[in-house]
Amino acid sequence: MNSKIQNILNEIEKFEADSKEALENFRVKLLSKKGEISLLFEDFKTVSPGLKKEVGQKLNELKNKAQEKINSLKEKFEKTTDSGTPELDLTLPGEELRAGSRHPISIVRKQIISIFSRIGFTLADGPEIEDDWHNFTALNFPEDHPARDMQDTFFISDELALRTHTSSVQVRVMENNKPPMRILAPGRVYRNEAISARSHCFFHQVEGFYIDTNVSFADLKQTLLYFAREFFGEDTKIRLRPSYFPFTEPSAEMDISCNICKGKGCTVCKQSGWVEILGCGMVDPAVLDNCKIDSRKYRGFAFGMGIERIAMLSYRIKDLRLFSENDVRFLNQFK
Ligand code: DAH
Repeated sequence: MNSKIQNILNEIEKFEADSKEALENFRVKLLSKKGEISLLFEDFKTVSPGLKKEVGQKLNELKNKAQEKINSLKEKFEKTTDSGTPELDLTLPGEELRAGSRHPISIVRKQIISIFSRIGFTLADGPEIEDDWHNFTALNFPEDHPARDMQDTFFISDELALRTHTSSVQVRVMENNKPPMRILAPGRVYRNEAISARSHCFFHQVEGFYIDTNVSFADLKQTLLYFAREFFGEDTKIRLRPSYFPFTEPSAEMDISCNICKGKGCTVCKQSGWVEILGCGMVDPAVLDNCKIDSRKYRGFAFGMGIERIAMLSYRIKDLRLFSENDVRFLNQFK
């Protein structure tokens, strides 16, 4: 008796039904009136009284096992179609696909490119690992200029460093092309600075320059006014303050009327009504000559701005570090 029970138990465990019919045949074989388990219950009457308790328990277990197995296989068939594939329920809600969002730096870069492309500027880029010539020397930096110091620049070797500004692209483009040229060069730059809310060891710039036979400071001013109005709004004012860069002469820094308080004075503009957004100037003739462009024939203007700076003003972001922390709570706001 015991071995018969064990055999049927093994059979139940191994059994796999490939159709409803096979399952029904299995049920009949074991549990119908003349089925193997039912017959065992008949035989049970002949078991000696001393063993009745033990064998009876086993028999009941066997019957339950058989019933459980049949029920679970039945469920499987009820959930599938005749062809055996799971039924497709078109009324179920779809799986949610979460859309990402663009990084604010990408958004602002695109906006800047779009504004300048409307007045004929095209894109250029250059390497982030740059040599001394393109990052400094060709741009008229004196041999002992502090920017060449280890304190400000990440040097890779005696000759190579991570570029400290996108002005290096000016040199590369001017060396390899003939005027007229109207170029915009966005890219990442690196400086050896302590990371804080106001400074970082890497950030993004957009460089712009225009070289032609008759370019004047008035062209520079008008181009930048156009940009400021397109980006920050029709009523934005600009002002140019004299400044110094080795590669431009004259040089200036440009402020816009504070886009947050509209010039009335607030914490962002430190009550002055103005915020600085870029450096600019007329390309120094020495730079043109360094790039084999005849400085007696050609002139040009150039400007460079930090994308983070523009994005911070545009979105009122107070901490530079947010741009590189990849915190989705920050990034999700730019949908
Ligand atoms: N390269 C400068 C910087 O990183 C920005 C700059 C200033 C670029 C004046 C220019 C320019 O093209 O004319 O601070």
